[in-house]
Amino acid sequence: MKRQVLFLIAILRLSSVIGQVSYSIPEEMKKGSLVGNIAEDLGIDVKRLKSGKARIYTGDSVQYIELNRERGVLLIKEKIDREALCRQTTPCALHFQITLENPLELFPVTVEITDMNDNAPAFQKEERRFEISESAVIGSKFMLEKAIDSDIGINGLQKYTLKPSDNFVLKLHTQLDGSKKVEMILQKALDREKQEHVSLVLTAEDGGEPQMTGTMQIHVTVLDVNDNAPVFSKPVYKASVTENSALGTIVTKISASDADKGANGEVSFVIANSMDTDLKLFHINSEGDVTVHGPIDYERERKYHIDIEAIDVGGLSDSSKIIIDVIDVNDNSPIINMISTSGSAPENSPEETVIALMSVNDPDAENNGRVTCVINNHIPFKIKFTSNNFYSLLTDGFLDRERSSEYNITVSCSDEGVPSLSSSVTLTLQISDVNDNAPVFERSSYEAYIVENNTPGLSVFTVKARDADWNQNARVSYILEDSSVNGVPVSSYVSVSADSGVIHAVRSFDYEQIRDFHFRVRAQDGGSPPLSSNVSVKIVIQDQNDNPPQVLYPVQTGGSLVAEMVPRSADVGYLVTKVVAVDVDSGQNAWLSYKLQKATDRALFEVGSQNGEIRSIRQVSDKDAVKQRLTVIVEDNGQPSRSATVIVNVVVADSFPEVLSEFTDFPHDKEYNDNLTFYLVLALAVVSFLFITSLVVIISVKIYRWRQSRILYHSSLPVIPYYPPRYSDTLGTGTLPHVYNYEVCRTTDSRKSDCKFGRAAGQNVLIMDPSSTGTMQRIQSEKSILDEPDSPLEVRRL
Ligand SMILES: *[C@@H]1O[C@H](CO)[C@@H](O)[C@H](O)[C@H]1NC(C)=O
Ligand SMILES: *[C@@H]1O[C@H](CO)[C@@H](O)[C@H](O)[C@H]1NC(C)=O
Repeated sequence: MKRQVLFLIAILRLSSVIGQVSYSIPEEMKKGSLVGNIAEDLGIDVKRLKSGKARIYTGDSVQYIELNRERGVLLIKEKIDREALCRQTTPCALHFQITLENPLELFPVTVEITDMNDNAPAFQKEERRFEISESAVIGSKFMLEKAIDSDIGINGLQKYTLKPSDNFVLKLHTQLDGSKKVEMILQKALDREKQEHVSLVLTAEDGGEPQMTGTMQIHVTVLDVNDNAPVFSKPVYKASVTENSALGTIVTKISASDADKGANGEVSFVIANSMDTDLKLFHINSEGDVTVHGPIDYERERKYHIDIEAIDVGGLSDSSKIIIDVIDVNDNSPIINMISTSGSAPENSPEETVIALMSVNDPDAENNGRVTCVINNHIPFKIKFTSNNFYSLLTDGFLDRERSSEYNITVSCSDEGVPSLSSSVTLTLQISDVNDNAPVFERSSYEAYIVENNTPGLSVFTVKARDADWNQNARVSYILEDSSVNGVPVSSYVSVSADSGVIHAVRSFDYEQIRDFHFRVRAQDGGSPPLSSNVSVKIVIQDQNDNPPQVLYPVQTGGSLVAEMVPRSADVGYLVTKVVAVDVDSGQNAWLSYKLQKATDRALFEVGSQNGEIRSIRQVSDKDAVKQRLTVIVEDNGQPSRSATVIVNVVVADSFPEVLSEFTDFPHDKEYNDNLTFYLVLALAVVSFLFITSLVVIISVKIYRWRQSRILYHSSLPVIPYYPPRYSDTLGTGTLPHVYNYEVCRTTDSRKSDCKFGRAAGQNVLIMDPSSTGTMQRIQSEKSILDEPDSPLEVRRL
């Protein structure tokens, strides 16, 4: 349709121009398309064309249009591209001639080629790359390529657009040749950190209908510039580290960021503190690990403030701070310091006496530094907290050097850390002595034995007392306490060695005089004041067989002759007499036995070995001699044994005259016969006198006792055995100081005494002693035998 319209217009125009035919056709018409009816426009008949051999003459140019002589029209022979034919020249026309022959005619024809929008604007390259530093200043210019559009006029390039237009704008400069210079101008600074790559599209547009465009990609790479400082992730870092952490332990991690790229973004850390010590203790590596680099000691520093810097290559930096709290570890034992100690204390120190003062410290914190102190058990001391780490050690109870003279007091202090640490100090305290112990004898009483007839000066035995105190307070000396033994000072019996306590006999003792005695020995220590104690000592004198038996009856005197009478009618077993002997020794030494040593007729009499009784052992016959002489030996049982012999004369007769006649025959008594009668008479007289005197004495004693017993009956006193004063102290002494020996009093009742007088039944005693004084001496001894408690009560009356 359009073509037809244009065609019509072209015809109309041609018709208006006579002689000169012009056509206007758009470019790019198809081959064979009608350009114009040339025959008509020239006013030439088609036949003329044929005959004139009409043809187109173009010279040596390309023939785009051909002539159809038949139809008389011009047709497109070759497709016409205006841009190829004319480039930018306008108007663009083909000029050729149509030649006719016969007659030769020449008709110029102009065919104007009109532009059609058949070319889009085009860039030589599809893309363009720029590398622009982010530091490029605003207004920086960057040349861009022009786009080319072969079309002309309205169909030619009309304008450029650049999108997006954040950072850049386009600026066009019209140049002298009318073309445009395209520039891209930085209108807003680039920031690599925001946008590293900027992609832009440059579009060129023409004005054709339809509009055609051409585009070019612009890639801008923003080059980095060190325009960003590092930035720490926190203004303050807080961390904690336990003390004594191993080197290299990571405390915390810090970080700083640098928005720049590559080397510009590399950050290093430094510790900025001026204090050397802190620098040595911690280390930060390039990764930001804060590590322990030295010994961390809570007791020296509890908190570290570390200024840190992050620096990039360009020297841009940021600062921050690390606050490191040191966590305490229980690494310190309590430290015990003795401020003052007393090395010794007297044993009489009062309770709560201060022995020592000490201070205890533990530099650790809280529980790790909280200390409690104790002392070892079972000692009389205690520990007391006084104030602010000070402790005092006091006595608790009373001290006794004698129980324990030295104490090792161990003070142990431990903290409350987990695990707990402790330390201890041992203090040796000497307890000094006070004289608080009296000497103590090893026994409550002593009894020592000494055999009589000892040598004077003999050590008897030793008393020993111990004193629990020390040194001078324990130095014991022994002192004999004054007393008397039988009215004699005891010091004349014994002496005590002051140093050793050895008791010496001062004299020789006689068992028959003294059998034992008591005294007291005092032991005294050397303290001030001294303390003492005493002990009773009993010395027992032991008997020795130093006395032979003494025969009391029959009395043996040089001058007298005593004979026992045995009637011839006496039966077997007739008691002739009894040999009575004593031994002043005691025990075995006084245990007597009797033996018949010699006899006129051994078959007639025998002696009882225990009792000394002489009895007949057969019927006396007339053939037996009147005078019988028996020698009896009395032996004691001592070692060695001692003995005595006694001669017993026995007269076997029925009447006294018979006896007398016979006595003259005793051969060895003959020398005394002259005085015999005289002595007998004298003896009888003396004996009678003594008998009367005794009677008087006995009666007076009886009266006295009767009065005494009346007093005693009226009192209800306990039973007191009574002995006649004269005999009471003769018991056991072996001495017979009294002469009133023919009376024997035995108390059968405590308050009554009986003195029985009697004679041995059927016993006649005949004393034939010319000197009665001798007789009396012998008789004196009789008493002690008769005093044997169970001996038959016998009273001899002379
Ligand atoms: C105290 O300690 C010392 C020395 O270790 C020791 O010789 C002594 O026997 C101890 N004393 C006591 C009472 O334990
Ligand atoms: C002997 O010791 C006793 C206590 O054992 C005491 O009663 C007495 O007075 C002391 N005698 C002397 C003489 O010191």
